[in-house]
Amino acid sequence: MSREEMSEAKSNSHVAGLQLDRIVFIGRTYDEYRRMFRLGERDLAGKTILDCPAGPCSFAAEMDARGVAVVACDMAYAHSYDELAAKGEADVLYAMQDVERNRDSYTWNYFGSVGELQYTRMKALNGFLADFRKTLTVSGSSRYIAAQLPSLPFADGAFDLILSAHFLFLYADRMDFAFHAATLRELMRVAREEIRIFPLVDFSGKRYAHLDQIMRLANSAGFAAQVTPVPYEFAPGANAMLRLRRMPG
Ligand SMILES: C[S@@+](CC[C@H](N)C(=O)[O-])C[C@H]1O[C@@H](n2cnc3c(N)ncnc32)[C@H](O)[C@@H]1O
Repeated sequence: MSREEMSEAKSNSHVAGLQLDRIVFIGRTYDEYRRMFRLGERDLAGKTILDCPAGPCSFAAEMDARGVAVVACDMAYAHSYDELAAKGEADVLYAMQDVERNRDSYTWNYFGSVGELQYTRMKALNGFLADFRKTLTVSGSSRYIAAQLPSLPFADGAFDLILSAHFLFLYADRMDFAFHAATLRELMRVAREEIRIFPLVDFSGKRYAHLDQIMRLANSAGFAAQVTPVPYEFAPGANAMLRLRRMPG
């Protein structure tokens, strides 16, 4: 994840005409989400769920196929299908070259090889693209929402569960604590029950320096905060999530 995503960020410059330069447009599958967020059937069934920011993940599409509606939001969704397809493919291809060069930095117990990693990243991208295109033709569809954090276009308590992966904490080098705090406050406003955030480390594999402060912030807003190990690790140290559960009362 760490170098993989950093390299994607560098790759953006060659996608002409896009203002996606600072965006890393890479996505994960349903199975990866299930593991990185330790999701069981009871966490998902009958819940209103927001994936934020969702990027080119196939989670919402795969959940829809399972009969559970997930809303995905991301600032990149303001761009066209063609732009996102070109950007997504370029990022995956560029990243794979870098992973190949640095393969010893990663843990290869989930993906057996770079080939398998590339297959999975393209599976997520293609699953997202097919569903994104399909929803463009469905009038009134609200599965993919363009939104720029730290602000969300949703009502207070609109979602039972919010999942946020590979965004907060990971980009600590370019997003300051004020942005993290504002984003967390917004996620807490929109969450009725629970928020799960993965991973808790930055690109160097170091635990987010202000994690304790973030947990105190959540506590003071009425959320119980718990660091929970998860059965998913690709980048070293990226093996735990933060669970924030709204306390009764
Ligand atoms: C690396 S992707 C993560 C996608 C997905 N959650 C995953 O785990 O694969 C990060 C996403 O954050 C989005 N993003 C970056 N800054 C944002 C912001 N301020 N508001 C909303 N989305 C943002 C990017 O467009 C990108 O799709």
